[in-house]
Amino acid sequence: MNIQSKPTILFFDSGVGGFSVYREVKQLLPDYHYLYCFDNAYFPYSEKPEEGIIERTLKICQRIDNLCSLDLIVIACNTASTVVLPVLRKHFSIPIVGTVPAIKPAAEQTQTKHIGLLATKGTVKRQYLSDLIDKYASFCQVEKIGSTKLVELAEHKLHGYPINLNEIKAELSEWENMPDLDAVVLGCTHFPLIKSEIQQCLPQVKYFIDSGAAIAKRVNSLLKEAKVRSKNQINSQVFCTKPLVKKDSLLQLIHSLGFEKLSLLDINSEILSDSDKK
Ligand code: DGL
Repeated sequence: MNIQSKPTILFFDSGVGGFSVYREVKQLLPDYHYLYCFDNAYFPYSEKPEEGIIERTLKICQRIDNLCSLDLIVIACNTASTVVLPVLRKHFSIPIVGTVPAIKPAAEQTQTKHIGLLATKGTVKRQYLSDLIDKYASFCQVEKIGSTKLVELAEHKLHGYPINLNEIKAELSEWENMPDLDAVVLGCTHFPLIKSEIQQCLPQVKYFIDSGAAIAKRVNSLLKEAKVRSKNQINSQVFCTKPLVKKDSLLQLIHSLGFEKLSLLDINSEILSDSDKK
């Protein structure tokens, strides 16, 4: 596959969470051309109004599509996916893949029929989520924790700050005394990035389930027949929407994930600037 024939896939999230989805896709499809954008100017999305999330997501995806014709977009964010997918699908003719909390696989795996959903405050209160539970897990007792704090802790960890296990424990304390809770859905893409810390706080849980692998399979099947639109490909890169205060750890991370650079995306202008100059 030469560079011109590689489909370009954009991953979008409010922060670094989408990397947990990206790494699954990249592992299955190492030769594709990848872009990643995180909207740190509006992070965290957890408790933000739906209209704000919809407006920004649409604007950012259109802006990047203008820079480099995209072949597929992965909304690697459960919170955004619960509200933006219909709007994006109306504006784009390319496939838009959303991230849905893995309620169905959790309901299939649990032996005790007692499962937990760990997501953002926005995701746990959306109708979309209740419908998912009614459809796939009506025979289970489903506990829900909506947390913005856990999103911030995961984000800090990947930006190179130390993570405090007691803060995670405090967020999960409701579930501490539920010995038969055996499956937990990591319903925010940030949470697989702190899975080992979450695991330490909930030793009774046998299964931690996220949607990354399922998304990789979906992307693979959607792109099998795709005709590549992109002619002038830009470097495989990560965009942010606000300058970073501390970027050494993040730069190291994005390079290790296969991206060449970090750029600042001004969503209201056509100018793109390198953000990895020290
Ligand atoms: N990573 C996102 C999700 O999957 C959102 C985190 C946030 O900004 O609240 O829900």
